[in-house]
Amino acid sequence: MNTKLPVQRPTVQIFENYTPEDYKVWKLLFERQSSNLKGKVSQEYLSALNTIGFTSDKIPDFREIEMRLKPLTGWALKVVPCLSPQKEFFEWLSQKRFTATCWLRSMDQLDYLEEPDMFHDVFGHAPLLSNTYYTSFFEGISKIALAHLDNPKVIEMLGRVYWFTIEFGLISEMQGLKIYGAGIISSSGETENSLSNRSKKHDFDIRKIMHTGFRNDIIQDNYFVVESYQQLFQSLPEMDSVVQEVVRN
Ligand SMILES: [Fe+2]
Repeated sequence: MNTKLPVQRPTVQIFENYTPEDYKVWKLLFERQSSNLKGKVSQEYLSALNTIGFTSDKIPDFREIEMRLKPLTGWALKVVPCLSPQKEFFEWLSQKRFTATCWLRSMDQLDYLEEPDMFHDVFGHAPLLSNTYYTSFFEGISKIALAHLDNPKVIEMLGRVYWFTIEFGLISEMQGLKIYGAGIISSSGETENSLSNRSKKHDFDIRKIMHTGFRNDIIQDNYFVVESYQQLFQSLPEMDSVVQEVVRN
């Protein structure tokens, strides 16, 4: 008989419920990834991390994040217990809300977690929600998705866009190739792998991305490199054209 009870995840952030282990996990992951990311992460992310005010000693408060982001882009986080169903996820995005968990992994799961926790969702995703081109791109994807929720092929293609940009995107900056994808930012293994010679880097090409599959259970071997956050935003019309082609065929 399976006696393992399903884990209850919080649907609101209640600070009193964070345990000493949660604070320890946040501090450890924050300090470790801040050190791993030195010289490797996008300058825009670094500035944003400063703007949003995350530190190793304090688990971020979603209300404070909202107060920092709102004047910049109008975005905020929406607490969810776990990965959201597609429709819900895109609906919140279209309302400038990124769905995020507010619970932390345990000490014995520091390096591998099957589902995204607060360190991934908040440390990885929240800072760049202060960038207008990035958030407009995000919003654009959600609007196209909401118009085609009944078309699995289109949703699969938009999932690839999300994967190769928001989660695993690289950017070419003055100082060289840098990381901006949250899936890399929140993972020490991905941080090391993404900039190494072991993985392939491709120029950003939205059409190609929409036709490139991926696996979510391994360290990535393909990454797409944007020239700027503006380039992400400027890819929306072509993304829409590819979707229209799929819908017509
Ligand atoms: Fe993510």
